[in-house]
Amino acid sequence: MDLTDRPRRLRTDGIRPLVSETSLDSTDLVSPIFVDATTDERVPIESMPGHERVPLDEAVARVREVRETGVEAVIVFGIPESKDAEGSRAYASDGIVQEAVRRITAETDAYVITDVCLCEYTDHGHCGVLETHAEDDPTLTVQNDPTLELLAETAVSHAEAGADMIAPSSMTDGMVGAIREALDESGYSDVPIMSYAAKYESHFYGPFRDAADGAPAFGNRRHYQMDPANAREAMREVALDVEQGADVLMVKPGLPYLDIIHAIRETYDHPVAAYNVSGEYAMLHAAAEKGWLDLEATAYESLVSLKRAGADLIITYFAEDIAERL
Ligand code: PBG
Repeated sequence: MDLTDRPRRLRTDGIRPLVSETSLDSTDLVSPIFVDATTDERVPIESMPGHERVPLDEAVARVREVRETGVEAVIVFGIPESKDAEGSRAYASDGIVQEAVRRITAETDAYVITDVCLCEYTDHGHCGVLETHAEDDPTLTVQNDPTLELLAETAVSHAEAGADMIAPSSMTDGMVGAIREALDESGYSDVPIMSYAAKYESHFYGPFRDAADGAPAFGNRRHYQMDPANAREAMREVALDVEQGADVLMVKPGLPYLDIIHAIRETYDHPVAAYNVSGEYAMLHAAAEKGWLDLEATAYESLVSLKRAGADLIITYFAEDIAERL
């Protein structure tokens, strides 16, 4: 054997950390939290072991738990006390997210991101104002432009409550521009926008829709979220969001879309975020429960892979567990 190149020389325990190309730090991670206006006790989320919906009174305690692990940022989701056709509790100044953010920013040093969408707040579960066709009309979908106004109002109400960053997730055309303009006009030109720029119509969101009670009552979201078959279209979506003033570009879900993360990283200099979604979390838990794989090791490998593909920050339900290991 005349082998001059022997990559194994660089795989001893001593040298592996020196030649490691990718590192993961607890400060790269964002932990989602769920604040629920319909309960006064913590409620475990069955399909997402270890996660709970917490009442408003527990929001600060929940964020402190996250911070104790070394994770510094949270993204807040709300479950409102009531829902209606226009999702009015999404932009109420005394809405659940607004109240939670007020308390969290007053009592902790956490970096607070808020998800801006209407699906948890509308009685039909879609991410905006619906057209007025009959409910069994298969073409029934969200009206784009009227939805923009409500998203902008929601974003401003979050900024007023003290949110550090706004993350619009509804895949409404023009949402970043509409939110940027409204924030600027209301005196929040310093509040950045992390756009869910390439958000796919994914079946990996299943457990989240239980957690946040946001499943569409009929139909699906393929008239506004992206087709998993498309990659070039993601670049168009990202270009539009950059033009409209997005500060951070997110891809969602994470693991099935590593090529998209990589392509955005190669083309743009903006920070790239990956959302390691509820289904990615639930499937590792389910397999680990059966003893089929090692939960912590596969979770770590998932997050390192997202970073290797080009993500700078990762939203993940594994944030606390992995940060504790790091
Ligand atoms: C709101 C929103 C969703 C998720 C984040 N923001 C639900 C959806 O689009 O159906 C999913 C997160 C996850 O699955 O972990 N639109």
